Amino acid sequence: MAHVSDLIATDIDEYLKVHERKSLLRFITCGSVDDGKSTLIGRLLYDSKMIFEDQMAALEADSKKVGTQGGEIDFALLVDGLAAEREQGITIDVAYRFFSTERRKFIVADTPGHEQYTRNMVTGASTADVAVILIDARKGVLTQTRRHSYLVSLIGIRKVILAINKMDLVDYDHATFDRILGDYTAFAAQIGLSDITAIPLSALKGDNMLEPSPATPWYHGPTLMGYLETVEVADATRGAPFRLPVQWVNRPNLDFRGFSGVITGGEIRPGDAIRVAPSGKTSTVTRIVTQGGDLDVAVAGQSVTLTLADEIDISRGDVIAHKDSPAHVADQFEATVVWMHDQPMLPGRPYLLKLGAKTVTASITEPKYKVNVNTLEHLAAKKLELNEIGVCNIATDQPVAFDPYAENHDTGGFVLIDRLTNNTVGAGLIHFALRRSENIHWQALDVAKKERAQLKNQKSCILWFTGLSGAGKSTIANLVEKRLYTLGHHTYLLDGDNVRHGLNKDLGFTDADRVENIRRVAEVSKLMVDAGMIVLVSFISPFRAERRMARDMVEVGEFFEVFVDTPLAVAEERDVKGLYKKARRGEIKNFTGISSPYEAPEHPEIHLDTTSLSSEAAAEAIVARLKEAGVI
Ligand code: ADX
Repeated sequence: MAHVSDLIATDIDEYLKVHERKSLLRFITCGSVDDGKSTLIGRLLYDSKMIFEDQMAALEADSKKVGTQGGEIDFALLVDGLAAEREQGITIDVAYRFFSTERRKFIVADTPGHEQYTRNMVTGASTADVAVILIDARKGVLTQTRRHSYLVSLIGIRKVILAINKMDLVDYDHATFDRILGDYTAFAAQIGLSDITAIPLSALKGDNMLEPSPATPWYHGPTLMGYLETVEVADATRGAPFRLPVQWVNRPNLDFRGFSGVITGGEIRPGDAIRVAPSGKTSTVTRIVTQGGDLDVAVAGQSVTLTLADEIDISRGDVIAHKDSPAHVADQFEATVVWMHDQPMLPGRPYLLKLGAKTVTASITEPKYKVNVNTLEHLAAKKLELNEIGVCNIATDQPVAFDPYAENHDTGGFVLIDRLTNNTVGAGLIHFALRRSENIHWQALDVAKKERAQLKNQKSCILWFTGLSGAGKSTIANLVEKRLYTLGHHTYLLDGDNVRHGLNKDLGFTDADRVENIRRVAEVSKLMVDAGMIVLVSFISPFRAERRMARDMVEVGEFFEVFVDTPLAVAEERDVKGLYKKARRGEIKNFTGISSPYEAPEHPEIHLDTTSLSSEAAAEAIVARLKEAGVI
């Protein structure tokens, strides 16, 4: 290290102790390279002397070579050099840089701009205390400034530094500074940001970075480093209600059973009465076990293992709280969702929802509106595209424990994950539980599926036919139904074209409508399985995610995916309804196989190659399979 503190050389132990005691500030920088972000971070790193000798030498050499700053040091090279490293290797979207001064330690989350900015910002901002929003003094408040600020506010960062940079290029003009600050404050007030410190800067020249600049005699506020070193960040989590999301149940032997995790709010003592969510069970804390021995009190941020007085059932993902201020429990809630993926969010599509240590299946039941982050206008939304932010109702397949995001970021924030690719596709902030989820209970009935099916001498199940339009799904399904009928079985055939005349006549062929089409049909077939019937479903059902959803709605062994595999060329050649010709002429939009995708099943229970198999033979094969499986 070029230089940090004389203590390093003279008394390393003492240095480490001092370092240990320094408080930590996490901040995020928002802006693009054009605003001088790299230069700003580069200078903070450089001035805090947190770069290595060899990096220093390379920086000076590169600055001369590249020469953008006329032989002076180009601080941006330092950061961009690191960025290049990042691009080559493992692509982490957010770069966390660590530096420290005599007074404080810092972690700065540097989030690249570009199209994926929401993902990067949400990741970087979720733990930040302060946001530095960069503005180019020549350009003022831009769309991007508003977007970044909106996200900052959404994520709950309350302190903003408005870094009005490149003041040297506007002759350190006081009026320019005031105008930008005025514009910004007006916008910020609408999104609930009020703690704003504007600083006139030239990151390049060093004005107001560490030392007050003689070029801005009209400015009397702190320097950037001065602010960062002294800003008070209250740790709100300590005063919050106690929350321990259980990461794992620690049971090394029969005599010990503890519940481990990181406390995300409040504090706990042995003897405290607790309540577990979602079960509602109560008990008392007997011990707080940690690696360094038992504690009398543990607070937010600490990793602990709690033991309890009673043997109650607690599993991973449950939340332990004080008895009198338990976490909320619901399976439907309203949330703000930030969409982060190229593939849009489609209502009704099942996603994995990860909330703390709990992962459940969830879908957006109703997008209420999306927000135009420039004008803050609410717009009607059927889906959310990349970088869009909307307010939605969400339903989970089982009750989850949570808090409103405003009260606890850890138990109130979640991510949405694509079930097939495992990609994180969205992030969400919970507002509140929907009351309707509390007031509807499952009604237990005395006659159940099994009895109903037995009466018909069968096991109920779904035969789910999928394939291109014209593949022969309905023809084969029809033959199978006839055969089952003559064998005395009770069936029903749900056919895409027919259901679209009634139940689903409000739906077209966009991705969103197809998802809803299949969701409804899957729900109906589930009811029919419960009624004891053999249900034949014949829909293109082009998306894996929704076929999987249908599969997951019934019990293992009750779902037979029948892939009617007809190559596009063959289906198009037959063109029984003349639709392919129309689609080729551009008269039908979103036509499966032509202008809309078909995702073939990967592991269907029954795979029918219709180029080698007649419809009759295909139907026979299916009936044989049903016998084999004991359905009939
Ligand atoms: S699905 O994709 O949502 O599962 P579904 O099986 O209900 O489709 O309906 C498909 C039927 O609608 C086709 O067999 C065809 O007759 C008709 N159709 C009309 N427009 C389209 C289109 N754009 N894409 C596919 N099929 C269409």
